[in-house]
This record gives sequence, C-alpha cells and structure tokens, in this order.
Amino acid sequence: NQPIWIGLLGFGTVGSGTLRILENRLEDIARRLGRPVKVKKVLVRDVTKPRALPIDPVLLTDNPAEILEDPEISIIVELMGGIHPALEYIKAALSSGKNVVTANKDLMAIHGRELFALAEANGLDLEFEASVAGGIPIIRPLKVCLAGNQIEDIKGIINGTTNFILTKMTQEGSDFSEVLKEAQALGYAEADPTADVEGLDAARKLAILASIAFNTRITLNDVHVEGITKISARDIQYASQMGYTIKLLGIAKETHGKVEARVHPAMIPNSHPLASVNDAFNAIFVKGDAVGETMFYGRGAGDMPTGSAVVGDIIDVARNIINGHTGRLSCTCYHQKPIKSIGEVEGK
Ligand code: NAP
Ligand code: HSE
Repeated sequence: NQPIWIGLLGFGTVGSGTLRILENRLEDIARRLGRPVKVKKVLVRDVTKPRALPIDPVLLTDNPAEILEDPEISIIVELMGGIHPALEYIKAALSSGKNVVTANKDLMAIHGRELFALAEANGLDLEFEASVAGGIPIIRPLKVCLAGNQIEDIKGIINGTTNFILTKMTQEGSDFSEVLKEAQALGYAEADPTADVEGLDAARKLAILASIAFNTRITLNDVHVEGITKISARDIQYASQMGYTIKLLGIAKETHGKVEARVHPAMIPNSHPLASVNDAFNAIFVKGDAVGETMFYGRGAGDMPTGSAVVGDIIDVARNIINGHTGRLSCTCYHQKPIKSIGEVEGK
C-alpha cells in the first residue's frame, strides 16, 4: 500500500498542529482509507530554526522545488500565510496535477475565484476549511449540509485574537497590548497582528463565508471594516454597567437581492449566547429559510484546533484521490453567477 504523500508548505503554529495530528492518527487514517497518508517534505524559511514540535531534519527544506516538483507528492498543504509566494506555489501545484489544502484566508478572500478555476480546469481539489474559524466546521456545512436553504444571514465572532483580547479586558481589566502579546505567544494572532486587531482578518473570513452562503462573489473591499483598537477600558466598563458585553462581530445578510457585509465591535446583551463566547473561541449563527437558526461554536484559532480542520481536508482529498473523484466538490461555491451589488451598510 503506497502512501499518499503530502508536501507541507510552512511549519509554524498550524503546520506543527497538522503534523502532530497526522502522526497521532497515522494508523487510524490508514485503516479508514486503506492507504497511509504521510508527509514527505516540509518547506520553511529557515531550516536551522528551533521548532516547537520535534521533526526529523531530513524532512525540512527551504527549496520549494523539492516539494512542488516531486511527482510522488499528490497533496500540497499550504500553511505559510500571506499572498506571495503562497499564490505562486499553489498555482504551480494546481498546474502540475497536485491537489491543494490551505488555511490561508488572505489568499482565498482575494484570489479564491482564479484558484478554483485552475483547480476545476485540472480536475483537482482545493479545500480551505481551516481558513475560517479555526477548528469549527463551517465551510463544508455551508457548501454541502445547508445547500438546500436560502441563507438569510450569518453573524458571529470569527476572530480568536480579538475575542481573547476583549475577554481579558472585560474579565480581568487587562491592558490591550499585554493581552495581544499573550495572544501572539499562544499562536492565535496572524504574523502581522494588525490584521486581527483592525478587523481585516475577520473581514476576509466574512468575505469567504458570504461568498459561499449567498453564492456570489464578495471580496475584502466589499466589507465594511472597523477593528477593536479604539475600544477603551472605559467603553467596556460602561457596557458592562448597562448589562452588555463588547464583541467584534462579522455580519452578512441578503436583503432584496443585495448583500451587506460588515465587521465592527458591537454591544451584545449579556443574555445573548454570543456574550458568553470567550477567549479564542468563535461562534457563528447561520439562518436558513428551511433550517431556521443554527449555531457553530468552538476554538477559532491555535495549532491543534486549526490542524484538526486541515487534517479533515487532507483526509477528504486523499479519499477523493483513492476513488478518482478529485475536483468534484471543491469549486461549488464560486460557480459563475450574476454578481449582486453590495447594499449600503445599515445606518451609514
Ligand atoms: P506561522 O506560525 O507564522 O508559520 C508560518 C510558516 O510558514 C513558518 O514555518 C515559516 O517558516 C513558513 N514560511 C512563511 N513564509 C515562507 C516562505 N516565503 N518560504 C518558506 N516558508 C515560509 O503561521 P501560522 O499561524 O501557522 O498560520 C499559517 C496559515 O494558517 C496562515 O494563512 C494563517 O492565516 C492561517 N491560520 C492560522 C491560524 C492560527 O491559529 N494560527 C488559524 C487558522 C488559519 P519559518 O518557520 O522558517 O519562519
Ligand atoms: N488570527 C486568527 C484569529 C487565526 O485570531 O482568529 C484564526 O484564523
């Protein structure tokens, strides 16, 4: 039984979590699929850097060609982040017959459409469950399980770093910059945490979710964005005195054929379930015309939760490779549909 070989691009927070899960579950995955799934090479910037997870040094390389040009590797798992060179590597992979799994919301929010087109043209899978809300299953439920619904709205907490910061500021009166450092040390924050605290990370995720839910194309530019940097300890105190908790929300809804998408801090009544979503947890409400309201809740960031979503995608792609079914499902969300205009943000 020949292994299905993986090339990992990136071995930071999510790369380490992914390798740990693949190693822990090696036998179980092999039993389920009838073939083992193994990592052949891991691309990093600096092969000499000490690593959080012990790794056989022969697996590490700083030469992308050793992975992208290896004919034995059939799944590229991109966990580097950023646009360049991740975009070029993913395009090279899809152009040379390799399936792709990514956690990169920056890339998917901007270049999703062209990457899906490339995957589709080559009959390959492009999976991205980990790009939104870490370990919470939300992409596949929207694409598949809720496909029979007209989605009315999506709203929730979709950034772990800002939720961690707001939780600590609310519960412990902690200082913003100290808690941000803690979130970085825990691996929640992006390489440039400005994307988290200014709401851009949440906006990218919302663009991805809204594109799938409303079957149209929403990009980062279509989302009204406001982060948490202007929230002071006094704002939090006043909100608390009035029975509210401040949370950074992502909201997207379709009204009369127009989609509105926004990310901003909001005062949530303490009786609402979102008010008690704390630390790096995320929660997303999705309302469909048939199902009514559903809530997805769990860890929205971190090595093992995000690795869980990545490994789920890897197993799915590996199963498709074994069954000869790659390229059948991954592109359903971006099929060409008339692009709806984006409605004015309410109250603006
Ligand atoms: P990270 O800890 O900064 O790790 C990035 C890894 O990629 C490092 O191993 C780095 O190598 C490597 N890398 C970066 N640029 C490279 C380049 N040009 N060439 C070769 N290697 C390169 O990042 P992360 O937190 O794991 O995030 C990875 C991706 O997952 C991002 O797209 C992020 O948005 C997404 N994501 C993260 C989380 C989370 O909780 N952290 C959750 C969901 C999604 P060195 O180690 O040598 O520097
Ligand atoms: N920086 C992101 C967050 C990682 O804090 O939610 C998960 O996407």
